[in-house]
Amino acid sequence: MIKVTVSRGSLKNLKSGLLVMPFTAKELKKEAVRSFEVFGLDKGSLKDFKGKTGDALVVYSGGAKLKTPRVLLLGLGDAAEMEDFRKSAYTAAQQAKSLQVQSLVFDCSSITAWARNTGESGEMIAECIVDTILYGLYSFDRLKSGKLNKTKRKEKEEKAGLRELQIRVNAGGVKEVEDGARRGVIIADARNLARDLVNLPGNLLNAADIADAARKSAEKSGCKVTVFHKKEIEKLGMGGLVAVNKGSHSPPTFTILDYEPAGKPVATVALVGKGVTFDSGGISLKPANAMDEMKCDMAGAAAVIGGVEAAALLGLPLRIVGLIPATDNMPGGAAQKPGDVITTYSGITVEVGNTDAEGRLILADALAYAIKHYKPDAIVDLATLTGACIVALGYSVAGLFSNNDGFARKIYEAGKRSGEKVWQMPVWEEYDELIKSEVADVHNTGGKGAGSITAAKFLEKFIDGHKTWAHIDIAGPAFSAKSAKKNHGGTGFGVRLLIELLRAWR
Ligand code: BES
Ligand code: MN
Ligand code: ZN
Repeated sequence: MIKVTVSRGSLKNLKSGLLVMPFTAKELKKEAVRSFEVFGLDKGSLKDFKGKTGDALVVYSGGAKLKTPRVLLLGLGDAAEMEDFRKSAYTAAQQAKSLQVQSLVFDCSSITAWARNTGESGEMIAECIVDTILYGLYSFDRLKSGKLNKTKRKEKEEKAGLRELQIRVNAGGVKEVEDGARRGVIIADARNLARDLVNLPGNLLNAADIADAARKSAEKSGCKVTVFHKKEIEKLGMGGLVAVNKGSHSPPTFTILDYEPAGKPVATVALVGKGVTFDSGGISLKPANAMDEMKCDMAGAAAVIGGVEAAALLGLPLRIVGLIPATDNMPGGAAQKPGDVITTYSGITVEVGNTDAEGRLILADALAYAIKHYKPDAIVDLATLTGACIVALGYSVAGLFSNNDGFARKIYEAGKRSGEKVWQMPVWEEYDELIKSEVADVHNTGGKGAGSITAAKFLEKFIDGHKTWAHIDIAGPAFSAKSAKKNHGGTGFGVRLLIELLRAWR
């Protein structure tokens, strides 16, 4: 737990392991020089610092009039948009991590000027800074015992990472920065929760564990939670979830999180998340190479749990229903076979050409269930659905598919605001051709081309003509591979995107 506080004390008197002083490139000449003079720091250091967004320089403050051993000069570029604050706060967190400091002061004395410059509120900037720092400090080390490295273990106990984050503001800004910081903590906690779930491997997180995680989150945020177990799932006729689970030794779960705001909700939004706790491909087995990364195949579920939690704790004026079908996808004597025809919750029959196209089968049930029982004004699903989406958009942008261009536009805007970007792809009629089946209502794969579009077209069959549906394929950005130099593993992608989308609801 990191304690986050807002202080209006003089920078000179604030004690910490690291004082972060952000400057815009323009301010450098005047303000940085002035601060360095006031604090008795060596102005020579400023020569090596240009103040570009995310630029960082550590200056040791021996002999200076400060109660901190080091100062981090942080560049804000022209501080024209949120992205400048996000990038630089992330850098600050990386520095704090590598310097192993236990306390950090982030100087936000200029927050009013930044707000004016960006057209954002000081509250939003404070939220962004706090959220990003807590996100940047994340590490997944709970599975390390330290038994093989005694000195490391001792170090770990002594330097348990950052304990305190202080934001320094001028007297007039305390209230808004406190509010922003409080929200930043809520959002970062939700994102880091999503990352924990993604990072937990298949042997430590099965469908029951997903339900438990949702339950725990609901306890924290005050949502209602319902969990269907195997018998109920069978009885309800969720044939997609049952079929995918057939090869597994762990029973499936179907979890519903339900957040209702205090007043009359302005809308009801359903969020559906793919919860495949490990995707081996089933009988259509995946190649061994990087199969371990398929522990990330429940990242949609993780984003929904995190998103609902944050929305509830932020007290958004919407009713938000999160629906999470969960299972692993395993081969075995009882597993579903290529060519099988199954009947989904909606009654629509599916020819399963490839058991590795399993995500759409469990989502089909969840989409149909959500629409039938909650009559949402809008429905969004998030899923690590196709490798083809990575081919199209790479590892930092998600694919967006929607039957409603106005709604898609809103999600696109939320993506830009949150830094979790999406790019829309078409769901035109001609693609329907590719998922026709000879023997059933629809086929679960679409042949060679347009793999992420045919997956989306498949999902569209199960929304019963709903007018406001979007599917977000997060296969790329949900998880950064080991080859990515820093911070590999779960990213929590989707939580911020959902929050920005839901907050902007009108
Ligand atoms: N979970 C995978 C998609 C995936 C790939 C997620 C890479 C994250 C990283 C999904 O279930 C899958 O296997 N999709 C197949 C679909 C194909 C069989 C039609 C794919 O993308 O190859
Ligand atoms: Mn698969
Ligand atoms: Zn999958």
